Amino acid sequence: MNIQLKKSSVKASAEVIFLSTSDSKAPKVSKNCPKGLSQFFTKGLQSEGWSGKFGEIFFMRNWEESNYLFVGVGDSKNLKPEQLRCLSASIFKKMSTEKIKALAIPIDHIPGRTDSAAAISGFTEGFNLSSYDFSDFKAPSKKEEVLVELTHAKMSKAMSKALADSLILADSQNFSRWLGDCPGNFMTPTELAKQTQKKAKGSALKVTVWDKARIKKEKMESLLGVSAGSSEDPRFIVMNYKGAPASKKPVCFVGKGLTFDSGGISLKPSAGMQEMKYDMCGGANVIGAVLAIARLKLKVNVLGLVPASENMPGPAANKPGDIRKARNGKSIEINNTDAEGRLILADALSYASEKKPAWIVDAATLTGAMMIALGRTHTGFYSNNSQMVSLIEKASQSSEEQVWRMPLTEDHVKDMKGTYADINNIGPHRYAGSAQAAAFLSYFVDEDIPWVHCDIAGTAWHCGKYFPYHPSQGASGTMVRTFVEMARLHK
Ligand code: BES
Ligand code: ZN
Ligand code: ZN
Repeated sequence: MNIQLKKSSVKASAEVIFLSTSDSKAPKVSKNCPKGLSQFFTKGLQSEGWSGKFGEIFFMRNWEESNYLFVGVGDSKNLKPEQLRCLSASIFKKMSTEKIKALAIPIDHIPGRTDSAAAISGFTEGFNLSSYDFSDFKAPSKKEEVLVELTHAKMSKAMSKALADSLILADSQNFSRWLGDCPGNFMTPTELAKQTQKKAKGSALKVTVWDKARIKKEKMESLLGVSAGSSEDPRFIVMNYKGAPASKKPVCFVGKGLTFDSGGISLKPSAGMQEMKYDMCGGANVIGAVLAIARLKLKVNVLGLVPASENMPGPAANKPGDIRKARNGKSIEINNTDAEGRLILADALSYASEKKPAWIVDAATLTGAMMIALGRTHTGFYSNNSQMVSLIEKASQSSEEQVWRMPLTEDHVKDMKGTYADINNIGPHRYAGSAQAAAFLSYFVDEDIPWVHCDIAGTAWHCGKYFPYHPSQGASGTMVRTFVEMARLHK
């Protein structure tokens, strides 16, 4: 996908004309519509039921030797970037079915009082996210790159910046998706670390990777235990970005990098198990977010941490009842080896707490219970701090990714007390499973550090039904943009 910002179109073979709904039944057409066509259009197509409602789209070839793509935006006075991301998905599809190689979109003709820079962000992200295609493991096929020219008669610096920033955001989010979509036999912990290092080259992001020996030396027994059942060694990925003076505390992102979750000895049923290649999406999305922050040169110090491991039932695997000591000295009774995400996060959060960051945000495909609770539309989050709640909610308003606060109370924390060890890795009953997981994690975060835990089990993949710019089958990269916003808002 190639997106450019121009004063006027240079290469386009078709131009978008916006339709909006009006008091009369006929749709209103944007001012770039040729007069004759406008008249023909409003009279002729009204009888065919076109109204200009949001998402309406059709292509008119060869009107006085020009081609036009009509796009309905509804009655919206002030289109949000999210609506434009959604529209981009249908425009992109139409470009493919109608074989439109180059399309002009006149930003200065969007109906209502839509901010032009925001519109450029919406379209740029929308097109780049919609055109993401995971085909690395298929026979190569020839695909021609399509061009979108966003045009505006009075271009400004803010508009160029919106384009540049959105290109970085969407590319970083697509990188997260790609990490997630790669199969488990390729995207091992070692490969995840390598790909992160490769992608960070040329940016101000420093990536250090700890191997098994280092992880052992660092007393991350809980992470080691999870990886013990696998022939693939674990990795601990440490990302550092310095965008502010060294005296400023870093903000910290932690992501679950479980490259395949078979459940271990508490083996998962085989139906659907292939989806557990996505169990590293928390890690992947943290990697994408930290990368974007560095490429955007935000004025903030960031520490990104991704514990990476497989969860397999090999001969040395954790057994139900095993006890292991995490880095912070707390002992954990592992009564279900399938509750492994929390085990690898335990060590990562302990390490994060030692660094005394301004705050910690973690992302993990942690519980099926979160999927049951919120489905694929909202990321559920837990927090120990009201300012952090405001921060993530404010960030999500601007990223337009949907989040929902879930309750984490002393009762949940007590439920996780161990019988033979300090903490149990599963709760005493099957209710509030995602809160139990969050409560488990809270044992590894210093109480005085503001913290948010995001359970992305429902939103990390297969959510294209609700967000048309996401693949219907595949990783979404959800929360990358919200995390970047959180870093941007950090003072
Ligand atoms: N990776 C899974 C959670 C998951 C399940 C994410 C389905 C997305 C879709 C996690 O490691 C897990 O297996 N959790 C268990 C915890 C239980 C054993 C307490 C779960 O949710 O069933
Ligand atoms: Zn599991
Ligand atoms: Zn898992």
